[in-house]
Amino acid sequence: MTASSLPPFWALIPAAGVGSRMRADRPKQYLELAGRTILEHTLACFLDHPQLRGLVVSLAADDPYWPALACAEDGRIQRAEGGCERADSVLAGLHRLAELGAEEQDWVLVHDAARPNLTRGDLDLLLGELADDPVGGLLAVPARDTLKRAGADGRVQQTVDRAPIWHAYTPQMFRLGQLHRALADALVSGVAITDEASAIEWAGHAPRLIEGRADNLKVTRPEDLQSLALLWRQP
Ligand code: C5P
Repeated sequence: MTASSLPPFWALIPAAGVGSRMRADRPKQYLELAGRTILEHTLACFLDHPQLRGLVVSLAADDPYWPALACAEDGRIQRAEGGCERADSVLAGLHRLAELGAEEQDWVLVHDAARPNLTRGDLDLLLGELADDPVGGLLAVPARDTLKRAGADGRVQQTVDRAPIWHAYTPQMFRLGQLHRALADALVSGVAITDEASAIEWAGHAPRLIEGRADNLKVTRPEDLQSLALLWRQP
């Protein structure tokens, strides 16, 4: 499939998190690696795509780091004000996309700000596989390790069958109207929403899992930065 035969899409990058597990002096998306912040690496994969209709980044209201980045002046990037939880930041971004002209049936790809190693190959795979899907879906990776269920005493209670278990990655690709309704309803109902797919599931739909690369890492802990540095050093 050529790039121009892939469906048009909008990108939404929630970047209003603090990332306390990094124990850094700033939110993890603003840490630098290979000459640019994590967030700039993340944005680059989308900005180069010929099918991109527009991109919104959701930022904390008092974010002092964004204005210092070169991409803050990039006319292709629009801002939304993030909220307390990731789902609030995504909802704010969806509103902004609608203001920019995105329509109910348009595809929106939501991607973590701190997942800077998304390849163009994986992005095109997701777009191509889900182009005609009635629900949408997400990049994901099958569980590789043996899984244990822990008891309150910290001892193994049970070994869990890993065959049907997947790690949910991003981008997650859904239609703007359906995602907006699912997120808004889930938030009003007080349901815990950790990714966009969980809101869609809660609304009664079954997102498709598209197997992506395991190195589409989310920077969460200090050692993740070291893994990325090693990956990017290789030819
Ligand atoms: O903390 P975690 O890694 O799960 O966050 C995933 C993504 O959601 C990050 O890109 C983070 O910046 C974003 N986020 C947000 N608003 C929040 C919390 C997280 O945009 N209130």
